[in-house]
Amino acid sequence: MARITGLLGALALSVGLVDALNTLYLPVCQQIEAKLSPSADVIYPLQALSYADATRHWFLSSSESPSCVVEVATPKDVSEVLKIVGATRTPFAVQSGGHASNPGFSSTIGVHISLGKFDQVTLSADQKTVEVGFGLVWKDVYDVLVPLGLSVVGGRVIGPGVGGFTVGGGFSWKTNQYGLTVDTVVKYNVVLPNGTITSASDTQNQDLFFALKGGMNRFGIVTSAVLKTVPQTDVWGGLRIYPSTSVPALLTAIRQFNEQNTDPKAQIITTVDAGQLGTTTMTLFFYDGPSKPAIFDLFDGVVALSSSTGRSSFTDYLLKFPSYIVTNLRGRFASISTSAFTDGYLAAIKNQSDALGLLPKTLNSGTMLSWQIEPFTDYGTHATDSAYPHSDSPLPLNLYFAWASPYDDEYWVGAMKQALAQLKQVAIDEGIYRETYTSYPNYALGDSTAEEVYGANTARLRAIRKKIDPARVMDLAGGQPFLCPFFKKKMLYLPSKTPHSLPHDPFKACVIPRPIGWISTTSPSGQHNLAPFSQFTNLTFDPPYVMLAANQSASTGARKDTVVNIESTRKFVWNLATYDLRHAVNASAQQLPYGTDEFVVAGLKKQFSTLLQGDEENPVPMVEQSPVKFECEYHSTLRLPGNGRLGSVDVVIGRVVGVHIADWAIDRESGKLDVKKTRPIARCGYFDYAVLGETFEMVIPGLDEGLLAGLEGSPGKVERWEKNLGKKERAKL
Ligand SMILES: *[C@@H]1O[C@H](CO)[C@@H](O)[C@H](O)[C@H]1NC(C)=O
Ligand SMILES: *[C@@H]1O[C@H](CO)[C@@H](O)[C@H](O)[C@H]1NC(C)=O
Ligand SMILES: *[C@@H]1O[C@H](CO)[C@@H](O)[C@H](O)[C@H]1NC(C)=O
Ligand SMILES: *[C@@H]1O[C@H](CO)[C@@H](O)[C@H](O)[C@H]1NC(C)=O
Ligand SMILES: *[C@@H]1O[C@H](CO)[C@@H](O)[C@H](O)[C@H]1NC(C)=O
Repeated sequence: MARITGLLGALALSVGLVDALNTLYLPVCQQIEAKLSPSADVIYPLQALSYADATRHWFLSSSESPSCVVEVATPKDVSEVLKIVGATRTPFAVQSGGHASNPGFSSTIGVHISLGKFDQVTLSADQKTVEVGFGLVWKDVYDVLVPLGLSVVGGRVIGPGVGGFTVGGGFSWKTNQYGLTVDTVVKYNVVLPNGTITSASDTQNQDLFFALKGGMNRFGIVTSAVLKTVPQTDVWGGLRIYPSTSVPALLTAIRQFNEQNTDPKAQIITTVDAGQLGTTTMTLFFYDGPSKPAIFDLFDGVVALSSSTGRSSFTDYLLKFPSYIVTNLRGRFASISTSAFTDGYLAAIKNQSDALGLLPKTLNSGTMLSWQIEPFTDYGTHATDSAYPHSDSPLPLNLYFAWASPYDDEYWVGAMKQALAQLKQVAIDEGIYRETYTSYPNYALGDSTAEEVYGANTARLRAIRKKIDPARVMDLAGGQPFLCPFFKKKMLYLPSKTPHSLPHDPFKACVIPRPIGWISTTSPSGQHNLAPFSQFTNLTFDPPYVMLAANQSASTGARKDTVVNIESTRKFVWNLATYDLRHAVNASAQQLPYGTDEFVVAGLKKQFSTLLQGDEENPVPMVEQSPVKFECEYHSTLRLPGNGRLGSVDVVIGRVVGVHIADWAIDRESGKLDVKKTRPIARCGYFDYAVLGETFEMVIPGLDEGLLAGLEGSPGKVERWEKNLGKKERAKL
């Protein structure tokens, strides 16, 4: 373990590494390091080799540079990390195999938790179940089980990690026979967002058990799972690569296979690849038995460039095709599911591949564009109660694009979305699209909405999340943003032109806190009025002015009583709204019939203005209990046009001619208004208010006394300073 704070600083400066090394969350890393078990490790950026190793992902676009990698070794370690990142609101990531295709899903600039040390493969005594650590890749599991004649419903290639796969769904070579990986989980061992170490199964934390079956990293950190074992004999299969001339015949064979196959042990995946010389394909054949099944005869007439099909052990079978070809490339998955693969749908896929293949790819650095066709049988009959809905056997099509340059991310993700939209239309036309089909979590684009991934299960998942993670600790780890369906990255909207798409208009929540204009007025006939306005502020200070904004009545378009009173009597009073008076502020905000005296309704005592025009006959009432009051002389109204009646606003400006301050509001030592005593309240967004209590002083450096006096709002001081300066200047001469 490296303890390197001092060294890091010195070295970073001396070799100019400052920009390259991320030290943002170093203190959090050190806090974590102090709590870990002896077998855990913390790796810092300076340990270049092991750091690069520990943060590597399958796609380059999924890698980030964290402040540290924490290699946890026990559930207790995971618990300590979660408590610390939760309390310090530090972004973190959980990496199992690092196969997630979405940036930020298993990477972070904060604390990178590596599950690599959870590498157990522990068979139960009766060999019916096996506990697998979430730091493993599937090959590690098969290497232990296959020699014993056993296997699990796990990954189809050697690369993907056990962890992400087993909380994201899990399409397997055995899916036709047993369902998805999640359907074979007996128990998840999990650390909850608040650090509690527990497990989830059919008999314990059932809601959590449901949520983890497809809910990915939103409900805690799973450290291992107990899976059902299944028998494993030798298998028959391998890879066949087809030239573009064979593609039409191959697609026909795939359609026939999809229609005719009833043997759940027979499966295929076909990858359709775009290329400048035309579309080519690769098909992986798999039979969960030692000899070729009759159904694969469908493919015998299709001319292949090469073939590796034949009998082998399951582990040797997996080595027949590469799964690390995208290292050093950027990329994404994106998917759509249908109930079948029809000729029309397959033709549309080929059509897309042909069209994209002809693009001069070097322009957008696209190096591999492929469509993976996965025709399962009725595997949904094995479905258990899972976050990812799959009981009606959705057949996924996975778009798998890879490219070289980060500048092309937006272009290719856009191209994938466009391709999906086109395919959806074709699927609808072909009658193979269903509203209940969602995007498979492990293939879904990162900005998919909750509904797009979890469909009808979304509400239940939200409720579980609310219960299990009220502090939203898991939001600090990137992942499917299904918690807020409205969330958009890089939000930009044009008010009254484009929708913000949020449940509440965010505008009023942006400029906060706003002082409350608690304004009292009198009508020409002496009727008193008091109302709070959420837009109020001072304007300049010599002499001081204030302004308030009042919208026009939504129903009639008439102006507010306050504005009518101010314009006709040419005066008003501002009262400081305080926490102690909040109920009265609330009561005075009610829409009351004209002529109702809000002072009476709110139980407030009156005191009267004496400095304003006409005060002898008809003075303005002031809130006696309020510690600060301004007597104001009306100056002018600025009428801002709106889009409708609701939008039209009267900005009323008044000159402050009298300032009343209660004795108790002034601190006897400093002579300042004491906000700890007055506790002013302010308007925030939505229905929220803030109360002022804590303040801190910040004197902007380098300003001369004159400017500081201006900032303080003290005309006398500004004048004195200017006079003195004049004297000094003269003295110099
Ligand atoms: C084939 O692709 C072209 C160009 O992308 C598109 O305009 C056309 O509608 C597609 N046809 C089918 C059958 O998908
Ligand atoms: C942690 O969360 C679980 C699930 O909501 C809850 O049952 C448990 O009481 C919490 N533990 C602590 C220490 O807050
Ligand atoms: C405008 O006034 C109506 C009541 O007439 C009120 O409901 C609404 O919130 C006000 N809007 C603004 C922008 O102040
Ligand atoms: C404000 O008034 C409403 C309606 O009378 C009441 O439900 C609410 O509790 C009041 N809030 C405060 C802080 O006085
Ligand atoms: C309100 O008063 C402060 C203090 O004098 C001053 O800095 C600020 O500029 C004033 N606001 C406006 C809008 O004039």
